[in-house]
Amino acid sequence: MSASDIHVVILAAGQGTRMKSRIPKVLHRLGGKSLIEHVLGVAQVVNPATITMVVGHEADSIRLFVGERPNIGWVLQEPQLGTAHALQQTEPRLAAKQGTLILLSGDVPMLEAATLQRLVHTHQTARAAATVVTAVVERPYGYGRIVRTRGRIARIVEERDASPVVRQIREINGGIYAFDLAPLFDALRGIASQNAQGEYYLTDLIAIYRRRKLRVETLLVDNPQEIRGINSRTELAEVSRIVRQTKNEELMAAGVTIIDPATTYIDPDVQIGPDTVIHPSVAIEGQSRIGAACEIHSNVRIVDSEIADKAVIQNFCLILGSRIAESASVGPFAHLRPESVVGEGAKIGNFVELKKTTLGPGSKANHLAYLGDATIGAKVNVGAGTITCNYDGTSKHPTVIEDGAFIGSDTQLIAPVRVGKGAYVAAGSSITEDVPSGALGIARGRQTNVAGWVERKKTQPKD
Ligand code: UD1
Ligand code: CA
Repeated sequence: MSASDIHVVILAAGQGTRMKSRIPKVLHRLGGKSLIEHVLGVAQVVNPATITMVVGHEADSIRLFVGERPNIGWVLQEPQLGTAHALQQTEPRLAAKQGTLILLSGDVPMLEAATLQRLVHTHQTARAAATVVTAVVERPYGYGRIVRTRGRIARIVEERDASPVVRQIREINGGIYAFDLAPLFDALRGIASQNAQGEYYLTDLIAIYRRRKLRVETLLVDNPQEIRGINSRTELAEVSRIVRQTKNEELMAAGVTIIDPATTYIDPDVQIGPDTVIHPSVAIEGQSRIGAACEIHSNVRIVDSEIADKAVIQNFCLILGSRIAESASVGPFAHLRPESVVGEGAKIGNFVELKKTTLGPGSKANHLAYLGDATIGAKVNVGAGTITCNYDGTSKHPTVIEDGAFIGSDTQLIAPVRVGKGAYVAAGSSITEDVPSGALGIARGRQTNVAGWVERKKTQPKD
């Protein structure tokens, strides 16, 4: 344990009343991740010796969501009497430690790694007792205001307790701080709850420190968006828009064409190669990777999938957990369910559903098909209306179609079944047995033509 150790505390016990939600605020999602994942992610950059999560409202669901991790400790705040009271709950865990405590707010998800590193640096080099992250904003409404005397921070006043003059101040408290552990827990005991909300405000610590002649610093961030707090659904939507815009701009700078950034929803972890064109109303989510020179047409949603170079995704496709190889074409109106693979140059046409199915290179399923639990080789032609009957009501069975096979339209392949290399299946067949390589499988009723039937029907007397 050394004086340069860093201990992170994340406050996440509040109810988040303004969200009007049964889900705890920090589990709401922003850019494909929960708020708390954003905060935990940035916390890692300072290489903390410990992380302490303060939870209260819906504590169990937050804990379950985050899971047990080696350096994370959990502290319960019950009831929730304010941010100072929340920090006080970590005393048993941290009082014996020394070094710097970094306090993060579970509802401030956009903080950048570089800012957090700068906070540690500023705080430690100034040997401050506290350092407050601040920003100057156009609309300070709702935030604590930084009151300065002779240029130095004197105190923080919450919106509800602020006089009209203080409300004019546009420098706000980001709710992110560095504290020297030595004087902290003793000073917290000096905080009272005589304010508009009857809560123990952590922000009162600043005036206490100034009275005790302890050094308080501020770190002003240039981009106030970084310290935006999320308290309502409106704020969640606003911040989501900023996250999206940042991602879109990053991709465009790297050579991706985004026709309408306002309707393009790409999660932060998604990678896209240059010269790929993204049409309006597209969502690309999770850990998806899109190659170069692809074309993703309108109204497509891609989740956790990999799409190689020069692939084309036509309009209205849903692609989940799948892989699409180079120069393949999918859609319009295709549904790729998890674990599907579309081979190089292969084609999936309209109203085709794939589930756990591999379609080999150059193969085609151009119209109206369901292919589930199937392994399909190279250069196979799957005719319109083909269905793998993979489910017998109890279990799922595989279908294998070998290279170069031709499956006539409106075929049912009743699994488990195999169609051999280069085999043909006649249109309208219900295939219940394997078709050997090079054979024609035909399984349908024979046609009978009744000569002169139409003429006879016309001359028949009506009754
Ligand atoms: C707080 C600050 C305000 C600052 C703003 C920045 C105080 C008193 N006010 O206001 O100066 O501008 O953040 O976003 O600190 N929490 C608990 N236990 C509690 C109360 C809150 O864990 O008893 C947690 C919340 O879950 C949340 C965080 O602390 O993650 C901040 O609480 P919140 O009620 O959102 O404070 P603000 O009103 O936003
Ligand atoms: Ca807040």
